[in-house]
Amino acid sequence: GRTAVVTGFASGIGARTASLLVGLGARVIGVDRPGAVAPAELTALLAARIDADLSAPAGPAAVAERVDGPVHLLVNNAGVAATRPWREVLGVDLLAPRDLTRLLAPKFADAAAVVTVASQAGLRWRETAARSRALLAAETWGDAFALAADEPDIQRDCYAIAKEAVIVDALTLAAERTVPGLRANTVSPGTVQTPLLADFRTAMGNEVVEGAAAWAGRHATPDDIAAAIAFLGSDDAAWISGVDLPVDGGYGALVFTMMQ
Ligand code: NAI
Repeated sequence: GRTAVVTGFASGIGARTASLLVGLGARVIGVDRPGAVAPAELTALLAARIDADLSAPAGPAAVAERVDGPVHLLVNNAGVAATRPWREVLGVDLLAPRDLTRLLAPKFADAAAVVTVASQAGLRWRETAARSRALLAAETWGDAFALAADEPDIQRDCYAIAKEAVIVDALTLAAERTVPGLRANTVSPGTVQTPLLADFRTAMGNEVVEGAAAWAGRHATPDDIAAAIAFLGSDDAAWISGVDLPVDGGYGALVFTMMQ
């Protein structure tokens, strides 16, 4: 069977993705922070659970160390909203996926895939790609934080920049074949009905969060996003790499059309 590593498996999109992948026959290794409470019936289905705090560089290193391969799919899903300090946002949402993808390289199967959960928020920040690239290029987390420490804009827009950066990173991984044989793609949800949505209400305002859902008729469910992740991670997507798949009920198309 295939082995999948899912970060942030304890809640929301990660929990649905983990159980969908188990249902599809995968051995799933769930990663979440120490103390994160996962549904007991889900934990029982996992091949293993790894406790790691992905807001510090030791987190991805510990995961890569403890995973037993070969790994066919890495789902970089763990994330926090901008209600958290900007260092934590840049760590969990940008630097941890960047590092985990590379640190797991020796354990990837011949035809492996990484799917990282980005966001609609990342798509609106094309003009900040220079900042994303600079953060992605930082050698250490300290270097990345030093870059951001001088830039109030990066601190303020940390979530959007982190999400854009993972899209840029997937493009780069696909184009440069940084990890041989690895397909790299992202999914970009609009609003999704998960516990994190409360944090987005706080960070962005209720009108922004409800505006998108009012147009679309509803928020996404975690199943909507998990299905897209599972597809991009499957052999059915064997010829898809370097793609960002919006999963937003068409809201991104509306925004694009309005900008014309
Ligand atoms: P959630 O809060 O339900 O789940 C996030 C999971 O990540 C939790 O289990 C949490 O413990 C874990 N996590 C957070 N910090 C961690 C850390 N330091 N170390 C290890 N694990 C950590 O949220 P949701 O909505 O399922 O989010 C999943 C992904 O989807 C995130 O990357 C988020 O940015 C993204 N997303 C969510 C949207 C939404 O509206 N809910 C919209 C667009 C993107």
